[in-house]
Amino acid sequence: MHKIKVEDKEFEIFLENDTLNKRIRLLGIQINVDYEGKCPLFIGVLNGSFLFMADLIKEIDVPCEVAFMRVASYEGTSSSGKVKELIGLPENIEGRDIIIIEDIVDTGLTLSHIIKTLKEQKPASIKASALLLKPSALKHEIEELEYVGFEIPNEFVVGYGLDYNGLGRNLTDIYRATEG
Ligand code: XMP
Ligand code: MG
Repeated sequence: MHKIKVEDKEFEIFLENDTLNKRIRLLGIQINVDYEGKCPLFIGVLNGSFLFMADLIKEIDVPCEVAFMRVASYEGTSSSGKVKELIGLPENIEGRDIIIIEDIVDTGLTLSHIIKTLKEQKPASIKASALLLKPSALKHEIEELEYVGFEIPNEFVVGYGLDYNGLGRNLTDIYRATEG
């Protein structure tokens, strides 16, 4: 088993780049069919989505536009816990067909918050794509999440844009934390 260390933590190989690319090619085909005759605006959620976005967008052959935004999360003082601030939201999305691109959906809190906020600008439609989904961690049902790369167990993963303490985004494959 191919093992690596990122900072102090040990990880083992989970999804190889070839596997990722084959799946992403299929997601691209699905999107091309669904958006025929349209011009979707892809909105990537930084930082984690940058490699997924890069590979997915190369599979898209309908006219399209690309934008990025980010979510700053910090501990709030209220009892509700994490406060999330959306930064760099694209303007003028009224009437547009939006596809949000996320690296991973865990509880779904981040993505549902993004969708709710973007809906206020009255896009024509809004869908989301996540390379990874942890179904057993999901707390917020997201009907807009139409394009999922892989459903994975509730384990911490790193690589291909995903980080552990800021490190490991450059890894070509995706790794999961080993026990202990
Ligand atoms: P929620 O719970 O809002 O969380 O769906 C989504 C965000 O949490 C981060 N996240 C991870 N990052 N490996 C990572 O590198 C993981 O296994 C992982 N699980 C959640 C990620 O930033 C995502 O956008
Ligand atoms: Mg992220």
